[in-house]
Formats: sequence, C-alpha cells, structure tokens
Amino acid sequence: MKYIIGSFAIVLTVLACSPKVTEVITEVEEIEMTADMTEGRAIYDSNCIKCHGLKKIDDFSKAQWEKILPAMMEKAKLSEEQKMKVHAYVFGSINE
Ligand code: HEC
Repeated sequence: MKYIIGSFAIVLTVLACSPKVTEVITEVEEIEMTADMTEGRAIYDSNCIKCHGLKKIDDFSKAQWEKILPAMMEKAKLSEEQKMKVHAYVFGSINE
C-alpha cells in the first residue's frame, strides 16, 4: 500500500512540474541569439561608435538598414566575416 501511494505521489509531482519545464524552454527560445548575433553585437558596439554615437537598431526600418548597413560596414572597414555577423545581429534584432 505504501508503495502504491509513493508511486502516485511521484506521478503527481512529475505532472505538476512538466508545464513549468515547457514554459521555461519557450522563454529561452524567444530571446535566443545565435552565436553569430552575439559576436555581431560585440563588433557593432565597438566599431559603430567611432564616428557617431551608437545608433539604435529600432530607430530604423529594415528597408533603411538594407541601405545604411552595407555603407556603414564599409566605413567601419569590417572584414567579410565581421560583416556577416553584424548583418545577422542587426537583421535578427529588427522588430517588425
Ligand atoms: C568612418 C566613420 C563611420 C563609421 C565607422 C560608422 N559610421 Fe555610421 N555614419 C557615419 C556618418 C558620417 C553618418 C552620417 C551622419 C550621422 O548620422 O551621424 C553616419 C550615419 C549612420 C546612421 C544614420 C543613417 C541615417 O540615414 O540617418 C546609422 C544608422 C549608422 N551610421 C550606423 C552605423 C553602423 C551600424 C556602423 C557600424 C557597422 C557605423 N555606422 C559605422 C560615419 C560612420
């Protein structure tokens, strides 16, 4: 009898915990940045403040960034790899 009650308690605990586990996983997915985006942010934060203040990504639309970013990355003399990462960061961060 004790054994049955014990197993029942375990099942209840598992059931009670499982929704929380899924919630945590969805939260993490929402804010997840890829490794390229994280590196891109570091490159952006250190290279895009040399001539002006740090520009907020949200202040410009995707269409504006498509024109601005390639020109600015040229000005900042980024390598092809850095450009790819900054591109991933900026376009991955735009709120549409
Ligand atoms: C060699 C200097 C230089 C570097 C480095 C530079 N910029 Fe600029 N940027 C300018 C100048 C000059 C302007 C025009 C004046 C202003 O808006 O301050 C400008 C303007 C901008 C604007 C506003 C454009 C508009 O249409 O209003 C954005 C956004 C921007 N830069 C982003 C960046 C980003 C992102 C980087 C890094 C990849 C970067 N800049 C690096 C010189 C630079």
